[in-house]
Amino acid sequence: MSNLRAAITAVGHYAPEKILSNADLEKMVDTNDEWIVTRTGIRERRILENGATSDMAAAAVRDLLANRGIGPDEIDLIILTTVTPDMFFPTTAVLVQEKIGAKNAWGFDMTAACSGFLFALTTGAKFIETGTHKKVVVVGSDKMSSITDYTDRANCILFGDAAGAVLLEPSDDPGYGIIDQSQYSDGSGAPFLYMLGGGSLNPPTHETVDKKMHYIYQDGKAVFKIAVVKMAEAAAEIMKRNRLTCDDVDWLVPHQANLRIINATAQRMGLDPSKVMINIDRYGNTTTASIPVCLSEWWKAGKLKKGHRVVISVFGAGYTWGAALIRWSF
Ligand code: UT7
Repeated sequence: MSNLRAAITAVGHYAPEKILSNADLEKMVDTNDEWIVTRTGIRERRILENGATSDMAAAAVRDLLANRGIGPDEIDLIILTTVTPDMFFPTTAVLVQEKIGAKNAWGFDMTAACSGFLFALTTGAKFIETGTHKKVVVVGSDKMSSITDYTDRANCILFGDAAGAVLLEPSDDPGYGIIDQSQYSDGSGAPFLYMLGGGSLNPPTHETVDKKMHYIYQDGKAVFKIAVVKMAEAAAEIMKRNRLTCDDVDWLVPHQANLRIINATAQRMGLDPSKVMINIDRYGNTTTASIPVCLSEWWKAGKLKKGHRVVISVFGAGYTWGAALIRWSF
């Protein structure tokens, strides 16, 4: 085993232009801006009108490559995480490979719902740490509008479409990069957040369509209760394990599912709200894209800087959850 450390060396993202605001949703279902903002913190989300998950992912990776100043042929591996693949197979990763012209890469998809980006990031890091790969792209992309029932007020207000990507490379300095990570799953959470239809359990039929089984189902209250505990626990655990106080942490990057869960996580860490990346108000819950979109936006705004200590914390269907500590390297 080598002593290489994997570092994020570039970021990129893509958000579709079309905005679906709370006012728009008020015209579609029995809801109101006040309820949505107080319960979730969401004001608007983006909707991809034409195209698929791979198109958003390809745009995010092109942005990343431009930011790093390298060509697609330099990529060794593409790990794509999504719950809304273009198709069951081939993988969306190979569709992205083809779209961007990454002819020297191989690729695969990974899924862990809203925890997908963290799980893919820590998996990608292993290919760098073993010394077998030099440039690994990890991309989270989800067209949540393709599995959202816009007559279901409890769910349609939550989700949006977007993609975000990071490049992993070996760090020149072992003090920088992905310092620590944790991943958890608990399958007893499966009945609370899922999409029932389309897979081998319930292959698509007229009946599965009529019963709306190709849409997200979430028992919001049940998920909330555990998400608020586990996301905060994972973040606090990684701080403790690395002997970090709230002053040592520059940024919390929480999965953007609900502003109340984000605030509870920051509170548990003792972090000032100014150190928390929040864009849920503009994008809603973009599932696997939420973390890399935050990283990319904050980097582009010049707020995420070399040397910053960044804690990522996630929770999603499964249940799945976890955290990572990163010393930002560019
Ligand atoms: O990303 C993966 C992980 N996911 C999460 O972390 C999400 C976790 N859950 C949540 O964020 C919250 O549970 C929700 C935002 C989904 C819902 O908030 P809540 O405070 O748990 O509301 P609720 O589901 O308990 O609903 C409260 C009331 C209900 O009415 P009654 O039964 O009290 O009369 C709902 O019917 O609000 C009603 N309601 C709405 N009212 C207006 C539900 N959806 C809406 C709506 N507009 N869109």
